[in-house]
Amino acid sequence: MEAGKLLIRNASQIATCSGFAAKKGKAMSDMGIIEDGAVAVSDGRIIRVGATQDVLSCLNEEEYTVLDARGKALLPGFVDSHTHFVFGGYREEEFAWRLRGDSYMSIMERGGGIVNTMQATRESAYSDLYKSGYARLTDMMKMGVTTVEGKSGYGLDLETELTQLRVMKELNEKHPVDVVATFLGAHAIPPEYKGRADDYIGYIIETVLPAVAKEKLAGFCDVFCEKGVFSVEQSRRLLRAAQALGMKPKLHADEMAASGGAALAVELNAVSADHLLQVSTEGIGLLAGSNTVATLLPLTAFSLREDYARGRDMIDAGCAVALATDLNPGSCFSGSIPLLIALACIYMKLTPEEAVTALTINGAASAGRADTIGSIDAGKEADMIVLRYPSYTYLPYHTGMNIVETIIKKGKIYRSY
Ligand code: NIG
Ligand code: FE
Repeated sequence: MEAGKLLIRNASQIATCSGFAAKKGKAMSDMGIIEDGAVAVSDGRIIRVGATQDVLSCLNEEEYTVLDARGKALLPGFVDSHTHFVFGGYREEEFAWRLRGDSYMSIMERGGGIVNTMQATRESAYSDLYKSGYARLTDMMKMGVTTVEGKSGYGLDLETELTQLRVMKELNEKHPVDVVATFLGAHAIPPEYKGRADDYIGYIIETVLPAVAKEKLAGFCDVFCEKGVFSVEQSRRLLRAAQALGMKPKLHADEMAASGGAALAVELNAVSADHLLQVSTEGIGLLAGSNTVATLLPLTAFSLREDYARGRDMIDAGCAVALATDLNPGSCFSGSIPLLIALACIYMKLTPEEAVTALTINGAASAGRADTIGSIDAGKEADMIVLRYPSYTYLPYHTGMNIVETIIKKGKIYRSY
């Protein structure tokens, strides 16, 4: 047995999700199934995938650590491509207010919401943000997540935005889960700039964005493009400045109101347009004709008691849909992959195949990584999960339950319990 060599054999089913780019529309149903399959891994990468007999015939099993997956399904690790998992404090009282009928936006207008977490995050020590972030990544990993996108946006000033991104950088280095960092300085207007959104965007462009780019802390720039937060014009100005510094655009688009966010995402060739609860039919058509992934976050709609995004319509129109948790302390304090899958299938009417594609190769595309993760293909990083059941179809069927038994991250084995 050689270090770094792993063989998973006799999986009742491998759902390879094979591909190196986002899958659109009908292609989201292509699972690339291999029955009685095996995967060989060397130095953290997949070197061979196929029927067990075929894979065994071209390697020496004795060199490998062997994982027998009889009766179990093997899938790519999940990619959670939209989260805000590094933050200080909690907002459990706002959740209770919403249960009594307050709206998310009315709480935000009263000075709660994102600014509440901003205060707590500014007051948090680096080490506390790191520790809570580490624990949240571990929770996510147990549910099969092997890569997480995380956003800043709870500092809303130079120092704290950089702190959040530095925490994510260190977590990426030290935690087994990979962290893809996104700069979301335009998440809300901080009290210092109340009523001066244009000036705040100017400050972000002139002061914060260059510092983020200089330290190479984020590959993506996101903005909360929303009625009452940042307009389409302000969002465009910021995202163009980010593009000029080599950062790729993402948008919180058409979440609470149809505000033209999807159209802006397509205009800028954004990596993803996220939320889309209120997107217009025209917006769906634009997304379908673009390279922008529609990243849907049903746990947020559930937590806010809003109608779900039109996931079925989007896939039927030919969009590439990804699913992500949106884990954050306000609109959605949940990183539950099992609940996410259940909501996507039961309420957004995705099929089990589409839900798995949305959390693997399309999630990878939404995080800008479809070339290296998100599918079980030779050459990709060995990020995979073994289910306790013989097929991926058990994911929505065993509703709300975590059926991930083993997580393989860069070829290393972790148990979910
Ligand atoms: O994606 N919509 C804006 N941002 C987050 C919520 C952040 C918060 O409430 O703290 C979201 O839902
Ligand atoms: Fe979000």
